[in-house]
Amino acid sequence: MLNFLSHNETETIAIATDFAASLQAGDVVALSGELGAGKSVFSRAVMRALGVSDEALPSPTFSIIQEYDGRDCRVAHMDWYRLHDGDEITMLGVHDYFQSPWICLIEWAERADDLLAETAIHVSLACVDGDLDKRSIEIRTVALKSRA
Ligand SMILES: Nc1ncnc2c1ncn2[C@@H]1O[C@H](COP(=O)(O)OP(=O)(O)OP(=O)(O)O)[C@@H](O)[C@H]1O
Ligand SMILES: [Mg+2]
Repeated sequence: MLNFLSHNETETIAIATDFAASLQAGDVVALSGELGAGKSVFSRAVMRALGVSDEALPSPTFSIIQEYDGRDCRVAHMDWYRLHDGDEITMLGVHDYFQSPWICLIEWAERADDLLAETAIHVSLACVDGDLDKRSIEIRTVALKSRA
């Protein structure tokens, strides 16, 4: 488990960029944390590091699944905020994205944690009392993750 303390958005982007270097096709990244914790800031930095072009990066309009082309992978960015249960999420076909060539980034993954395989990488962001810009960032990877 890795723990970081980010003091501002720029530091979060740097942490996410380093993290992205450890990812490979087939990985599923489950992001959790309250509204405004920085899940989208973190996700966008990961996508940029994976080679998704700036022009392709999301406008703020809501969509549950957005697909992008990365350098050596495709990227699926999901937001499960408005979803309620595992059945609803399963029906959207999310499992198709839990394999190569996809790298999957899921905001509000806690909506249906049970859908995620044990191999999912958990990134939890949390605001820190008393400082608007401080965030704790915890990254949890399965120790014995088997790599194809
Ligand atoms: N250390 C920090 N790391 C990340 N974002 C920060 C930090 N400090 C301040 N911010 C600000 O916090 C906000 C984070 O917004 P973001 O959209 O990433 O949150 P989110 O977790 O995706 O929220 P939502 O659940 O609504 O999708 C941005 O406005 C960003 O500028
Ligand atoms: Mg968000």
